[in-house]
Amino acid sequence: MDENSDRDIGKLIKQVNALLWGVGGILAVVVVMVLLIFVGDDMAREDADAGELNRALIDSAAPVNHPPLDESTDLWTAADLSQAPASAQAQLEYGKELIVNTSKYLGPKGSIAHLTNGMNCQNCHLNAGTQPYGNNYGSVASTYPKYRGRSGAIEDVYKRVADCFERSLNGTAPKVGSKEMEAIVAYINYVGSNVKQGEKAKGSGIYEVALMDRAADPTKGKSLYIAKCVSCHQADGSGMMNGDKIAYQYPPLWGDHSYNHGAGLYRLSRFAGYIKANMPLGASYKAPQLSDEEAWDIAAYVNSMPRPSKDLSKDWPKIEEKNFDHPFGPFADGFGEEQHKYGPFKPIKAAQKKANNEKK
Ligand code: HEC
Ligand code: HEC
Repeated sequence: MDENSDRDIGKLIKQVNALLWGVGGILAVVVVMVLLIFVGDDMAREDADAGELNRALIDSAAPVNHPPLDESTDLWTAADLSQAPASAQAQLEYGKELIVNTSKYLGPKGSIAHLTNGMNCQNCHLNAGTQPYGNNYGSVASTYPKYRGRSGAIEDVYKRVADCFERSLNGTAPKVGSKEMEAIVAYINYVGSNVKQGEKAKGSGIYEVALMDRAADPTKGKSLYIAKCVSCHQADGSGMMNGDKIAYQYPPLWGDHSYNHGAGLYRLSRFAGYIKANMPLGASYKAPQLSDEEAWDIAAYVNSMPRPSKDLSKDWPKIEEKNFDHPFGPFADGFGEEQHKYGPFKPIKAAQKKANNEKK
């Protein structure tokens, strides 16, 4: 072959190449356009979804204030620790410290013992158990020992504290007589020492949310949870630990490290009342941020999620004394487990009242 035909072949290859690139280019453009038309549509839809989610988050960030739960100015306040006899101070301060930072001492990485699930008493008994309607200890010293249907026995403060260790903290209680148990009980008795024996302190314990006519709805509760709670307690309910992984910054609401199904918060009325007056963080009995229905529906959602179980076979020796929202049978009133868990509760309460009146 001579150089000319070599060059011609070279030119031909270049032309074919150019043609192929051209066709390829056009094809590429067509493919991209088709993709844009179909995928773009999806992306637009996703944008709209994200917009909705963002709006939900913004809505949840801007607190909706509901009327105050109690406007009285004489709600219980805790007895002042600094007024206690000097000889009692150190023990009271230690009791308070154990309630505020339970996990640091008794949690999975506790410095004294490993007895509990990582939560602090204070996660549920706000401000070391002194916050009005924050599940405070105002009426403990004045009303214990007392009969409780759950155990079918007279319970003292030690027994009641042990209950929360075994149920809310899904663990074991320090022994009666231990420095820790004695300090916790001394502290709880001291803060309520300004309440008359037999009387209930105003604003103590948990707020009673009015009963609804319908059953609480976990599906509605889930959307509300996503809008109002997820930023701290997380989508899987597991909360978020502090940097040192010793205690929670945002405590868990369900899953392995949360309260077990024998705990007080597992009852819908306790959960609804606790969050109505205290959650999302920043809400209070003075400025609640949830409607009653929202509180019930969120309670239904959170308490329909998995959590540790506990042997409850010894609870409620007299089944007719079960709380209206205790969700495990057998029951004396003819209503099933589903209704005892989610409601409607009014018919159950009416039946219990009737049975009690007949007994009298
Ligand atoms: C997961 C939440 C939670 C945690 C954590 C928790 N508790 Fe409780 N506690 C409750 C609930 C709910 C009640 C029942 C309140 C009611 O029925 O009104 C309760 C009741 C009590 C009572 C009786 C109050 C009364 O007025 O009858 C005492 C005392 C108590 N807890 C002590 C403790 C101590 C001490 C700790 C830590 C070792 C603790 N709790 C941890 C949720 C919790
Ligand atoms: C801004 C963060 C934040 C938001 C939002 C929030 N919480 Fe909490 N929540 C907390 C913190 C912090 C605590 C513990 C308070 C303490 O220890 O003083 C807590 C405690 C709790 C507890 C008791 C402890 C436990 O883990 O069982 C419950 C129940 C709870 N929150 C439910 C809710 C619900 C339901 C919502 C939504 C309506 C919500 N929270 C929104 C931060 C938040």
